[in-house]
Amino acid sequence: MTKTLNVNLSYHQYPIHIGENILNEVKYFQPHIKQNQKVLIVTNTTVSQLYADKLAKTLSAITPHIYIAELPDGEEYKSWQYLDIIFTKLLEHDFDRQSIITVLGGGVVGDMAGFAASSFMRGIKFIQVPTTLLSQVDSSVGGKTGINHALGKNMIGAFCQPQAVIADISTLKTLPKRELIAGISEIIKHACIADVNYLAWLEGNIENMLNLDINSLIEAIYVSCKIKADFVQKDEKEQNIRAYLNFGHTFGHAIETAMGYGVWLHGEAVGCGMIMAAHLSQLLGFINQEEQNRINTLIKKSGLPIYSPPIKISEYIKNMSKDKKNHAGNIQFILLNGLGQAHKTTVDLNLVNKVLLENGAVL
Ligand SMILES: NC(=O)c1ccc[n+]([C@@H]2O[C@H](COP(=O)([O-])OP(=O)(O)OC[C@H]3O[C@@H](n4cnc5c(N)ncnc54)[C@H](O)[C@@H]3O)[C@@H](O)[C@H]2O)c1
Ligand SMILES: [Zn+2]
Repeated sequence: MTKTLNVNLSYHQYPIHIGENILNEVKYFQPHIKQNQKVLIVTNTTVSQLYADKLAKTLSAITPHIYIAELPDGEEYKSWQYLDIIFTKLLEHDFDRQSIITVLGGGVVGDMAGFAASSFMRGIKFIQVPTTLLSQVDSSVGGKTGINHALGKNMIGAFCQPQAVIADISTLKTLPKRELIAGISEIIKHACIADVNYLAWLEGNIENMLNLDINSLIEAIYVSCKIKADFVQKDEKEQNIRAYLNFGHTFGHAIETAMGYGVWLHGEAVGCGMIMAAHLSQLLGFINQEEQNRINTLIKKSGLPIYSPPIKISEYIKNMSKDKKNHAGNIQFILLNGLGQAHKTTVDLNLVNKVLLENGAVL
């Protein structure tokens, strides 16, 4: 079974194909690559060993001009210095405006290669072939691309939409379990903010997904991409409702910053952040106790951490004060509005402190 979802922006439409072994099927690539066109596969050292040959073989049915740029593996390489590896390859091999990038890997290489495509010769086309669950449900959809700066994560970038997203579920077989679970966190987020029926479906299917049941994964990735695409179609540049996709992220980013990037995976921090955001929503009467319990149970069942590390409350507040969503010095939270709906609001800091303390933070 392969499912396809079309993303419709006012100026650009593109398909997201989700299926098993579709990396081997030229028909998904053919509409986007011309005969004899130059293609640069951007990947990292880990994913390259697993899937670059397969992808190159598939593309070779369309064009013989296939080149590979391999980046080192890790969030710490998502920077100007390593972005240059991509530009150097493109220039060394005389790529022009008609050439195309195909990015193979998780969100790190996806964000980097997308940004390179947005700026090389003022913009060339690119195709996303995401190979982590997180990149299949989240980072490959929506057109946010970019790199980190020593002074802030994802601070330099561009909105740039791909020609297609080709998500091959079979690649998840080699993904470390911890990375798989981190991707499930964003799936739970989509259900919490947009679709209570999806939440109920996840309650019944989370174990299948953890066991890599193909049909459950295809369904979850499809529904999650649809939810994300809906937000992006309505608010591409995050002027209002796209921010709801940050549910759990205000607390989550504060955990990532406090622990040092990479100690907690992003999805793990967001899982714990959703526990706190749901708690805050319950204390303010936006969801009831039973609804809060459902969220907590699902996050726990996924294997995500549910208690904050012992981070000081003052450090949490300091980190949350730097969030990109904030206005006029007030921390903005994405809270629920019943299960399956979200809204953005400020909250009395005494209540925030209570939630932090009751979920593992320290004085
Ligand atoms: N653009 C967006 O909208 C958006 C949204 C969310 C996250 N992000 C970004 O995405 C990044 C995180 O993405 P990620 O979680 O995919 O991390 P990642 O790209 O670092 O991948 C995680 C690890 O899995 C390995 N890997 C990838 N695919 C594999 C496979 N099939 N088999 C075995 N190993 C595999 C990678 O080499 C890496 O070690 C962050 O930089 C974050 O800022 C962007
Ligand atoms: Zn996220």
